[in-house]
Amino acid sequence: MKLFVDTGNLKDIETLAALGIVDGVTTNPSLLAKEAGDYRQTLKRICDIVKGPVSGEVTATDYAGMIAQGHDIAAIDQHMVVKVPLTREGIHACKTLAGEGIKVNVTLVFTPAQALLAAKVGASFVSPFVGRLDDVSTSGMEVVREIVEIYDNYEFPTEVLVASCRHPLHVVEAARMGADIATCPASVIDALFNHPLTNIGLERFLKDWEKAQAVKV
Ligand code: E4P
Repeated sequence: MKLFVDTGNLKDIETLAALGIVDGVTTNPSLLAKEAGDYRQTLKRICDIVKGPVSGEVTATDYAGMIAQGHDIAAIDQHMVVKVPLTREGIHACKTLAGEGIKVNVTLVFTPAQALLAAKVGASFVSPFVGRLDDVSTSGMEVVREIVEIYDNYEFPTEVLVASCRHPLHVVEAARMGADIATCPASVIDALFNHPLTNIGLERFLKDWEKAQAVKV
């Protein structure tokens, strides 16, 4: 399963990419609004760092506006993916942009029915928001399970990008279900590394080693 970072922060992306665990990046208007500078330059820099799919979202809500912004975003770099919301206009825009060979990520997906529509119009990625579903007492991961099942039934090439991941269990469950990608904030990726027994075990190994060296001297 691929791992994307869900951020517009260059420092976080650089740090995680250097470890070799980042396959791509997702951004959204809220995330890019937190970062200084021109968003196009930020997205270009992100593409240069990760050299993998980088989602940039349209802010237009009408079809013509989405197409114009979609062309603008796609022109930033060959790795750019145009993110459109799951609205009627977004689905229409996805059909057109995908038909032109532009990769599209259909976002703000909360049901398997919405995911089916995204696949039908040639989306490269579909983004179910698991954390936000959990927030309203609906199992986000159950929705992912149903999307994976539907896509497998018809061999849709659309990749399931599990978004709004809030903790390592979302990532592990996504991998168990066969989702293609999980996108997580840097804090969740950091949490994937952690286990107290790893720290305790390492400390013990190093102490034993030092003790043995001291005796040999
Ligand atoms: C995905 O592409 C979105 O940017 C993101 O995962 C939303 O996550 P949030 O619900 O934590 O804001």
